[in-house]
Amino acid sequence: MAVYTTIEDMRRVYKRRVPKMFYDYCESGSWTEQTFTENKTDFQKIHLRQRVAVNMANRSTRSEMIGQDVAMPVALAPVGLTGMQHADGEIAAARAAGKFGVPFTLSTMSICSIEDVAEHTEKPFWFQLYVMKDWDFVARILQRAKDAKCSALVLTLDLQLMGQRHKDIKNGLSAPPKLTPAVIADLATKWRWGMGMLGTKRRFFGNIVGHAKGVTDAAALGAWTAEQFDLELDWAKIERLRDMWGGKLILKGINDPEDAVMASKIGADAITVSNHGGRQLDGAMSSIRMLPSIMDAVGDDIEVHLDSGIRTGQDVLKALALGAKGTMIGRAFVYGLGAGGEAGVSKALEILHAELDKTMALCGERDVKALGRHNLIVPQGFEDPTVSI
Ligand SMILES: Cc1cc2nc3c(=O)[nH]c(=O)nc-3n(C[C@H](O)[C@H](O)[C@H](O)COP(=O)(O)O)c2cc1C
Repeated sequence: MAVYTTIEDMRRVYKRRVPKMFYDYCESGSWTEQTFTENKTDFQKIHLRQRVAVNMANRSTRSEMIGQDVAMPVALAPVGLTGMQHADGEIAAARAAGKFGVPFTLSTMSICSIEDVAEHTEKPFWFQLYVMKDWDFVARILQRAKDAKCSALVLTLDLQLMGQRHKDIKNGLSAPPKLTPAVIADLATKWRWGMGMLGTKRRFFGNIVGHAKGVTDAAALGAWTAEQFDLELDWAKIERLRDMWGGKLILKGINDPEDAVMASKIGADAITVSNHGGRQLDGAMSSIRMLPSIMDAVGDDIEVHLDSGIRTGQDVLKALALGAKGTMIGRAFVYGLGAGGEAGVSKALEILHAELDKTMALCGERDVKALGRHNLIVPQGFEDPTVSI
């Protein structure tokens, strides 16, 4: 394996190894990419308080997310098409997460199916659902997730329709890729990826093809997904889904205090403060800037997680210090996967863990659960999204 010291190192290798179509799919935000960019730059506006002459021995990054023990409070976020970033990508990422001791979330739009991931991994994983109009399909997929012993349902609320990513349209994104001359020329330089793909049968949306009525091949799938996302999703439907599931429920894609209060009122176990990594509402505030006002609104009423823009252990620390109980990473693990498969995801987790652990020590803390506002120097106005900083 190449020498990786940062997540950014992994992104560069990932870019070289994976077809352009899938790299662009991951490394883009919607429209102007303002939110995609600010998700990262807003983390840099927060500084850390350097403390000295405190005992730094016997540190711990262990914590809990929705009552589950975690080696560090960082879960792998649901990422569609993970199995196109690397052959059998969902299984590889879930195994790496399981070995590390952090949760893995399987996307509705995964390549490996729920059953396939359950069969090839040891630890229970979380299942993410996009709410579809076809309630028979929804009922069946929830039952499949229960049968696979998924330990939480992550209900994504910020994608009733899709934000536009220009490159996906221009690249003709599809799974598996259509073999146009441009794609063939690109694939010729991505032999490692191609060898992996030739060695696996998992190349379609495994949770959907053969499970949704009439969707038996890739062509039918395109038409089905375009018309299936439920534009009429509302809080009443979310309550109905909560009851259908009956287990731990995380509402993902909350980026406003009023929605956070609603989520807490309907009795969800946690929310993920998220703007989908800047892939949906371009112009939305970064999730790290929305976190303080959301924490003020919900207090201790509901567990709060955060994603969008995390690329370092320092970012994780900042989110925790501002009140999140846990975090999720999307691109940071995909870079690792594309660069080096399961070992690459393990390496990405090791990098984030070492950064979190050492930074925590240099802030004068030994226990990740003790992090708080006192560890940060936050610029004036940061916590008020209406102030421009
Ligand atoms: C390539 C890609 C695909 C994604 N697919 C899904 C998905 O299927 N379901 C979902 O809830 N979120 C999806 N997301 C959003 C992630 O779960 C997460 O919110 C986001 O990646 C966090 O931002 P980050 O990538 O900056 O860490 C996707 C994100 C990326 C980058």
